[in-house]
Amino acid sequence: MQIQYTQASSEDQQAFAIAKQNACLGCHAINKKIVGPSFESVAQKYQADSNAQAFLKNKIAKGGTGSWGVVPMPANTKLSDAELTLLVSWILRGAPIKN
Ligand code: HEC
Repeated sequence: MQIQYTQASSEDQQAFAIAKQNACLGCHAINKKIVGPSFESVAQKYQADSNAQAFLKNKIAKGGTGSWGVVPMPANTKLSDAELTLLVSWILRGAPIKN
């Protein structure tokens, strides 16, 4: 499926800022695999999964392995529930960014 890009909203910009501040972008890019999967491929994998929001919030907070391979993601214990919600919603939209 082709991901639909909408104009970056302020939520997208907030989520991108949180991702930068928390070093997510050291391991993840929007459209290519680095250490972890691209955020576009995460959006595609979970597009029909109604449990994805809850699952991914928990996965980002606690870290873990097994969805994409054997390399684990470290836990991200400093993120608030609101930050996790912003991040996961943004990632599931295909992580649109402005500039
Ligand atoms: C040290 C590298 C690293 C950092 C930093 C990192 N990740 Fe990951 N991430 C990974 C790896 C590796 C995976 C694949 C884990 C797996 O196969 O289950 C992953 C998986 C994911 C997934 C998909 C999870 C799944 O089960 O499908 C999401 C969403 C994600 N990361 C978001 C984030 C966010 C948001 C941050 C910042 C708060 C972050 N990651 C920081 C390495 C990292």
